[in-house]
Amino acid sequence: MPRQLSLHLNAMTVPFKRVPPIAVAGLAQVLALLVCSVLALALLPWDMRFSIGAALVLESLCAVAISYFLRLPSWWLLIQALFVPALCLVWMLALAPEWYLAGFMLLVLVYWSTYTTQVPLYLSRRQVWQGVSDHLPPQPGLRFADLGSGLGGLVHYLARVRRDSHFSGIEAAPLPYWIGKLRTLFQANAVIQWGDFWRSDLSAYDVVFAYLSPLPMPTLWEKAQREMRPGSLFISYRFAVPGVAPTAVIEMRDMGRTQLYFWRL
Ligand SMILES: C[S@@+](CC[C@H](N)C(=O)[O-])C[C@H]1O[C@@H](n2cnc3c(N)ncnc32)[C@H](O)[C@@H]1O
Repeated sequence: MPRQLSLHLNAMTVPFKRVPPIAVAGLAQVLALLVCSVLALALLPWDMRFSIGAALVLESLCAVAISYFLRLPSWWLLIQALFVPALCLVWMLALAPEWYLAGFMLLVLVYWSTYTTQVPLYLSRRQVWQGVSDHLPPQPGLRFADLGSGLGGLVHYLARVRRDSHFSGIEAAPLPYWIGKLRTLFQANAVIQWGDFWRSDLSAYDVVFAYLSPLPMPTLWEKAQREMRPGSLFISYRFAVPGVAPTAVIEMRDMGRTQLYFWRL
């Protein structure tokens, strides 16, 4: 493993102490399987057996009920209901084991630490990049950071339209990092770094952009307040900082009427 890679792996930290939902979801599935197994064993003396279909329905119902009891967010309940039936369906396809390994590796490379950060990869569009670009301060020599830069689209775009400034992306997941890196390879005013943005010092930037999820926003705002210099700009796409009025809000012309939030530090 290259030195830089191993350093970043060791340094990866997440400032949330809660148990990740994926662990709770796993526990709910194990408990549901346990309940179904005990029920199946208890019915054996009466020579009663479940059909596969009935067993799947029962397991799904148990998993949903336990997940609800464990207070998983509502959209997890659908995943929980479909998880074991989907496993059976894939098992019936009788794929070679290598396909499972390949699929697993691909998911790991793309999503990496999403199970703890709860910030998956989804991409902002050109309209958002233009919105950010239109509202960048006009002075040359700006230093800009995209925290969690995904495939590097925003950094690549801004480095092209603002050649007078410098654009950095910080990305934790290996495959998006490499794609972003290749994309910006020949742009002298762009760089994509592999690592954990919680470990980066935001005082190095005049503008910091984040497109993450609702979960990290309060902690990220605290970090921005602690580290960013007075007069610098913090931008978040889609996710506001709870309880902190933005300096400006721009609505995108899309179906979800998503918003870009700006805070002047
Ligand atoms: C919603 S995507 C946004 C991608 C990109 N900024 C864009 O606008 O298209 C969030 C990205 O943040 C990355 N990420 C999440 N937590 C991170 C962390 N602590 N350090 C670095 N990257 C992180 C994820 O891997 C994911 O690629």
